[in-house]
Amino acid sequence: MLRVDREEPDVEKIRLAADVIRNGGTVAFPTETVYGLGADALNQEAVMKIFKAKMRPPDNPIIVHVSSKDEVYTLTEKVPESALRIMEAFWPGPLTLILKASTKVPRITTAGLDTVAIRMPSHKVALALIKESGTPIAAPSANLSGKPSPTTPEHVLRDLDGRIDLILDAGPTDVGVESTVLDLTVDPPQVLRPGGTPYEDLVEVLGEVRLHPLVTAEREMGVEKPRSPGMKHKHYAPAAEVVLVEGLSLDGIVRKVREIASMHASSGKRVGILATDESIPLYDVETYIVKSLGSRSDPSSLAKNLFRTLRELDDAGVDVIVAEGVGMKGLGLAVMNRLRKASGYNIVKA
Ligand code: TXA
Ligand code: MG
Repeated sequence: MLRVDREEPDVEKIRLAADVIRNGGTVAFPTETVYGLGADALNQEAVMKIFKAKMRPPDNPIIVHVSSKDEVYTLTEKVPESALRIMEAFWPGPLTLILKASTKVPRITTAGLDTVAIRMPSHKVALALIKESGTPIAAPSANLSGKPSPTTPEHVLRDLDGRIDLILDAGPTDVGVESTVLDLTVDPPQVLRPGGTPYEDLVEVLGEVRLHPLVTAEREMGVEKPRSPGMKHKHYAPAAEVVLVEGLSLDGIVRKVREIASMHASSGKRVGILATDESIPLYDVETYIVKSLGSRSDPSSLAKNLFRTLRELDDAGVDVIVAEGVGMKGLGLAVMNRLRKASGYNIVKA
């Protein structure tokens, strides 16, 4: 683990990490969303190491990270006009674009699809590493497959110690949830995964944007041929059972959370409650392990703390996590998507 300055990444350390990438190794590095596990996207054996280290199902393709818009041209067949507009508006930043792949991208990176996912992160350490490596970097989130994405280098170490070559440590990430995945091979464009770029912002720039039904799904859905294979894999699952309580009024949600928590506690289970700043005083901290995600009036605070808090509750050894649902505005959409998946769609309506 190498500590790097997040504002002015140390050139020597970036060089060392880039050498690992160029030599076909794996480097975990910070992005503005979550930590990624990187390898040379154009080197088949290197990308294979990512799948191995994460124990990732081989049918789940990997996002290719670039440090400039120009690199997109070598990775894709053609860059539609809409893509240029979107890159102009949102890059660098937490938005991944799905485009037709060129033959330069190895099949292992795209998991055999004819499309490629590309994003230009805004984190200075990520940009410096990609640039210095001189090659686009394939990087999924740096967690063991099925675990919550890592928002700190300690999370990466916990999941991948001994399985990868290097971790660049620049402290906790800002956004806390992964990038928004936007499919530009369909018209109108479609969000396959809600994330760090709010849906409302996409609509503002693009006009019509669809949400894939799985983005807002409230139950397990059979998808014929998932366009984003990651959609069908179990995701963001803490070890504890998660119950998600959704409703329109905070009063109603809190009442239901207390009822469910008390039921589990009386059967001898250790119960964690995922609350918000507005509701945290309403729970009994003697009986439950209560954590707040942040303020309901600031959905980006909820996103920032989500994965860390899920891991903390797991570390506390709870058997059950009862989570409050939040509003779907802004980053709230990504937070609810992750919570619903983490609960395995174990959703109770208040
Ligand atoms: O913020 C992020 O996106 C982070 C950081 C490290 O950049 N990366 C990340 O990667 O979350 P990962 O592998 O955990 O999630 C990538 C998602 C998966 O759901 C995958 O199925 C989807 O993107 N994906 C990748 N390539 C695709 C493609 N060609 N078509 C459709 N979906 C694709
Ligand atoms: Mg992931």
